[in-house]
Amino acid sequence: MPRKIVVTSALPYANGPIHLGHLVEYLQTDIWVRFQKMLGNECLYFCADDTHGTPVMLSARAAGINPEELITQIHKEHKADFDEFGIEFDNYYSTHSPENKYFSELIFNRLNEAGSIVTRDVEQTYCENCKMSLPDRFVRGTCPKCKAEDQYGDSCEVCSSTYQPAELINPYCSTCRTRPVLKTSEHYFFKLDDYEQQLRDLIAGGHTQKSVANKLDEWFNAGLKDWDISRDGPYFGFKIPGEENKYFYVWLDAPIGYMASAKNYCDRNNLDFDTLWNSGEYELYHFIGKDIMYFHALFWPAMLIGSGMKTAERLFIHGFLTVNGEKMSKSRGTFIKASTYAKHLNPEYLRYYYASKLSDGIDDIDLRMDDFLNKTNSDLVGKFANLASRSGPMLTKKLNSELGRLDEQGKELLDKLIAAKDRIMEDYESLRFSAVVRSITALADEANRYVEQNQPWTTVKTDLEKTRTTLTAVINAVRILAIYLKPILPKYAEKVQRFLNVDTLCFADLDTVLENRKINNFERLFERVKEEQVNAMVEESKETQAPQPAATEPVEPFKPECTIEDFAKIDLRIAKVLKAESVEGADRLLRLVLGVGGQEKTVFAAIATAYKPEDLTGKTVVFLANLKPRQMRFGLSEGMILASGTGGKDIFMLTADTGAKPGQEIH
Ligand code: 2FM
Ligand code: ZN
Repeated sequence: MPRKIVVTSALPYANGPIHLGHLVEYLQTDIWVRFQKMLGNECLYFCADDTHGTPVMLSARAAGINPEELITQIHKEHKADFDEFGIEFDNYYSTHSPENKYFSELIFNRLNEAGSIVTRDVEQTYCENCKMSLPDRFVRGTCPKCKAEDQYGDSCEVCSSTYQPAELINPYCSTCRTRPVLKTSEHYFFKLDDYEQQLRDLIAGGHTQKSVANKLDEWFNAGLKDWDISRDGPYFGFKIPGEENKYFYVWLDAPIGYMASAKNYCDRNNLDFDTLWNSGEYELYHFIGKDIMYFHALFWPAMLIGSGMKTAERLFIHGFLTVNGEKMSKSRGTFIKASTYAKHLNPEYLRYYYASKLSDGIDDIDLRMDDFLNKTNSDLVGKFANLASRSGPMLTKKLNSELGRLDEQGKELLDKLIAAKDRIMEDYESLRFSAVVRSITALADEANRYVEQNQPWTTVKTDLEKTRTTLTAVINAVRILAIYLKPILPKYAEKVQRFLNVDTLCFADLDTVLENRKINNFERLFERVKEEQVNAMVEESKETQAPQPAATEPVEPFKPECTIEDFAKIDLRIAKVLKAESVEGADRLLRLVLGVGGQEKTVFAAIATAYKPEDLTGKTVVFLANLKPRQMRFGLSEGMILASGTGGKDIFMLTADTGAKPGQEIH
């Protein structure tokens, strides 16, 4: 009986591009799903964009569009990237969907009825200027422990300590740099510890890898805390039923997005959602990274249990990606977008490289550029493509494209290749892809040795039929290896399928051999990678990842708000510079005598770095006439002239040489 399986990958945030770090998970999942499909299992792969939350809202604001426009645009980009890398979802949906709203409300209401939702007041950091509460990451300031400046509100990147935003020294809103205030607001909480026993049982039943279960034990032993599931508006998300300005926290509706994507698929394909999600007929697996374990191993199953729904069979958790042994870095050019990679290199190379590194554990995987280059050239080009290019063209040119029959030696080779099937399948099933790749490359070596021993390029000159027999074995070896590699290299497998002139490439085909039949013309399978291609990709990543003026770019603090009435008090006049002179003892100041409608006013202006006194006489300038006179060390300053610029040589007086008369009011 074929199995019925539902698979998900974590939903990427809809405020940035897919990068090589993301691809570890999508490729791991896609390879597993393709493997299941090849076995003839019904395997449905669901994902979606994770669209809600403050960062999406602020990114949209910074781009001058509304969040809906932003998430539509990002959805297209994400889809294009996934297609490029051969990641084949059965449905790629969005958390900003009617299905997700429906399930979020349903689950919330059920948890509420079960008594697992409580409300209480929380003190939150609020920006009076932006008029919004600030998530921890949007508050910055000086670390209370090591005093490093410019640290996030929840943790210090220098000393790694964690703290509350209110503990920061000189905190400021990362959008506008205003000092935030603390404000009390009522929030909704999910009582996670109501589900402690069920969660412990779930984990003890093998819900996650063993190495993860230990970490979870630590969390259980520290005590499960209530989870704050609401956020005050403005917020991009779903409103909490019965509330005017409170929304579900993005992490509440994100995993529900798995269901929403499944439901949307079911509705479009005439499938019953309850059977798929809740009946036990389908196995359910979530692939995630180790950074979001808490959400998937605790909150999510507790939400499902509390609302009477089925939990996943297992979580498959993987580690992070490092590049050249270090965290991905924009300045080093190792923070590489999927689209940038695809501009320079064949996506199948990355599929193969990641597969060669992936195991069932949570260790990080390292993309070493030199290793990537070597592995691609030595395995993909040197082993797999080579085997085909040594046999296909010769058969076509010299032997009328016709396969013959296998001899004993050929059969022996193929038996060896086929004998590895069970192990390879077990390793695929258990996510030990690096072991899969090791087995397949060892088999390719075996097949290439067979070619060396039989020297078809020599025998073709003397014994065509012997050569046909040799090449028949080689072509069959190519077919077996392509079957094994198909979940990892689907495009390569497609090309091989065309070249071998066969209808399918699946595990069941390992029971048959290709004899006495025609093959098609050989098409090139892989090109060698050059170091320059890799370097160009890294260079481009450096350029495109230069700091971007985002919503989080700090700006000078705004002053407290001023009303239009306040503004109307300002009296701006045209003034003529009658006299300008330096001020002894004050290098930056000029003393200006201004004619303003028959009156003379003296001002001291800090513009000496940009203007010579002799250039100013006779100019008309904009003068703030009703500024309260201020006694300075050098005399009384009776107003101010208006200028803009960053200081030094860059000071630009607002002049008004337009025929306006001194004393004239400016509106
Ligand atoms: O960490 C992240 O990138 C989240 N967007 C993952 C969400 S997974 C699921 F819960 F939706
Ligand atoms: Zn602000």
